[in-house]
Amino acid sequence: MLTLKDIEDLNSSLMHSRPREILATVCNEFPRCAISFSGAEDVLLIEMARKLQPKPAVFTLDTGRLHPETYQFIEKVREHYQLDIDILYPDAQRLQELVQAKGLFSFFQDGHEECCGIRKVEPLRKKLAELDVWITGQRRDQSPTRVEVAVIELDRTFSTDSHQVVKVNPLANWTSEDVWNHIRMLEVPYNELHDRGFTSIGCEPCTRAVGPGQHEREGRWWWEEATIKECGLHVGNVREKSSD
Ligand code: ADX
Ligand code: SF4
Repeated sequence: MLTLKDIEDLNSSLMHSRPREILATVCNEFPRCAISFSGAEDVLLIEMARKLQPKPAVFTLDTGRLHPETYQFIEKVREHYQLDIDILYPDAQRLQELVQAKGLFSFFQDGHEECCGIRKVEPLRKKLAELDVWITGQRRDQSPTRVEVAVIELDRTFSTDSHQVVKVNPLANWTSEDVWNHIRMLEVPYNELHDRGFTSIGCEPCTRAVGPGQHEREGRWWWEEATIKECGLHVGNVREKSSD
């Protein structure tokens, strides 16, 4: 198991490196690693990882509430890269209990935490039990909760006493403009909702398009406060900041 100092040192040594170098180092050092795929950034990570190995490990969390366009996008990426994407589903029993008790839109009344917990966080936790590193497309300029995201960090949310999980964010220093310049230049597939004003895309009921001048994640859980807006996958961003 790495010490916190080892992880901080690794972060210091890679924090100014190019995303591809970060991926190369991490995948070499931690063979049990996978890309967590849902959005535009993640396809760039797949594109880069494919240059290092033909079939990088990729998983996605299917919450059951995604837009039809997102399902088409997942399929497009699978075909484009000829990848075996591991599609993860929520536990049917847990989901049934939630929906029977509270209906299909409880998150508008009592917040998104419970539904995201069952549909995303629990399946992710199960997946991360078999990995040492997960790779995400988080960027610092995405939201007020992400301004301090490190390139390499101990994932305190998903690590346990017996199993350490490291989270790697190779695009932490990139801007939205960097991402879109690369997507156009490399002609990689993207979710067609982006052409209709959607900047950050999650589940259909909890995502809406944003207008000019709005921040890119304002369309996510728009009824909730921006400084606490993390769904549990990256809740450490909020917890670590508030415990500073
Ligand atoms: S979220 O926590 O608010 O949903 P966001 O959509 O900004 O996260 O995505 C940030 C990163 O989290 C993505 O680049 C991806 O690595 C990971 N991620 C988010 N949603 C999913 C999902 N449904 N499946 C797999 N990875 C995801
Ligand atoms: Fe549920 Fe909305 Fe979270 Fe999707 S984003 S898991 S629908 S609360």
